[in-house]
Amino acid sequence: MKKTDLVLILDFGSQYTQLIARRSREMKVYSEIHPYNLNIKKYFKEKSEIYNIKGVILSGGPASVLSKDSPKISKSDLDFLITNKIPVLGICYGLQLICHLYKGKLHSSTQRQYGNTKIYIFKDSELFKGIKNQITVWMSHGDSIDMLPDKFSSSSKSIDRVICSFENEKLRIYGLQFHPEVEHTESGKEILSNFFFGICKIKNLFEPESFIESKTEEIKKLAGKNKVICALSGGVDSSVAAILVNKAIGENLICIHIDNGLMRKNESSKVVDIFKKHYKLNLIFVDASELFLKKLNNVFDPEQKRKIIGKTFIEVFEKESKKIKNAKFLLQGTLYPDVIESVSFKGPSATIKTHHNVGGLPDKMKLKLIEPFRELFKDEVREIGLKLNLPAKFIFRHPFPGPGLAIRILSSLSKEKLNILREVDDIFITELKKFNLYEKIWQAFAVLLPVQTVGVMGDERSYENVIALRAVTSTDGMTADFYNFNKEFLTHISNKIINSVKGVNRVVYDISSKPPATIEWE
Ligand code: XMP
Repeated sequence: MKKTDLVLILDFGSQYTQLIARRSREMKVYSEIHPYNLNIKKYFKEKSEIYNIKGVILSGGPASVLSKDSPKISKSDLDFLITNKIPVLGICYGLQLICHLYKGKLHSSTQRQYGNTKIYIFKDSELFKGIKNQITVWMSHGDSIDMLPDKFSSSSKSIDRVICSFENEKLRIYGLQFHPEVEHTESGKEILSNFFFGICKIKNLFEPESFIESKTEEIKKLAGKNKVICALSGGVDSSVAAILVNKAIGENLICIHIDNGLMRKNESSKVVDIFKKHYKLNLIFVDASELFLKKLNNVFDPEQKRKIIGKTFIEVFEKESKKIKNAKFLLQGTLYPDVIESVSFKGPSATIKTHHNVGGLPDKMKLKLIEPFRELFKDEVREIGLKLNLPAKFIFRHPFPGPGLAIRILSSLSKEKLNILREVDDIFITELKKFNLYEKIWQAFAVLLPVQTVGVMGDERSYENVIALRAVTSTDGMTADFYNFNKEFLTHISNKIINSVKGVNRVVYDISSKPPATIEWE
């Protein structure tokens, strides 16, 4: 089997680290981000069985290499990479670290410099092949180089003569003072492409077919004759994961679908229909909606709701899975952004919101985790789903959060509120599809606000609920823009909702982007 080429990204805490991975994936170069203090030698030993490691990128970071406590890799790690002929690219802090480890001189400035800077490229460098000799780049740095390490040469400078890049071609070490991964850097993508293809000589790209092949082999070996259980929500991630693992181990995969009463209209029956009837998966259906509603009675706080839903889910899931003999593994459709948003490295890639996708279940249940998509982005999982013959209609469904409609009712829950929201949501989604807008949008949903407003219905005064509609575009859910509907659609959807759903007399549209807002309201 052909091994896929891999680039390792060591994270020193920059807010842009994920973008490096994103850019590489856009070029179909498989990359993995790990904390800077990864045991590199062990990683190489383990990963080399499955991948060809072709390059390493040291990310940016907010610290100064001159400070004693700043995050560092050791010189012997760097030597290990060089001995193994692995090219290294340091970006911003990464460049400063290379300079420091090779005994160059740096100085700290009290103020970080941010923003667009014009640089002059004067060396015929592999990194800048095919790129103009004057470009505008996105600079963000505190330390600057005073003296290059022995046998390193600079390849570009800014107008105020600051060294903006350097290299040691023989050792195949490169450094950039600026951020090629950021949109504002002119030809940034080409610079990264030169590193991947020109310097690291990457050939075996990430292809869904080879991913499916290597993962099924890996899971077959790992699971042996044991049972793997999976909480199948019906979302894209758990569904593709289930189909993939089913391909590997057949009926030793047991899926459990729990109706928590917080799903979209007819969601559970659709999931059972597709996976039990059509795909013939070993699927257990549990209706726990009453239990969830009881536990959520009078709960207003969003994080409290998340905790209760998570805990109740574990209880129900645990009870069901105890009935399964020989269950040793738990399959989860965890994606890369969940991992990044949930894990705080010893840098400032801080936790933003607790995600239920990661953690929780396995600790309590003593099951080993299988997370085939832990290193993938959603668009890559969708590609894999298509290759596994899941229908496009299903694969391109909008993401839906684990806590479901509970975090879209901005107060305590009741059956009545859930029914109103379910109806509105169904109308919104159906109309988006009719108007051919659904596919243009990353995620669309309705939120039931905890306010009543005055309206007129016929000759009567009404005092009823307000619905907020939200529709955003995004590539991975990490950032998002609101979708710019035209007036015709907004008028149509507002009228349709108010005329069809009893209890709603006003519709508003959310025009905030992420950041500073988030996609969900709670
Ligand atoms: P936010 O609201 O953080 O959402 O901008 C980013 C993406 O994550 C989803 N989301 C969740 N998914 N459990 C989940 O499984 C949660 O608690 C949760 N909160 C947000 C959200 O729908 C969007 O796709």
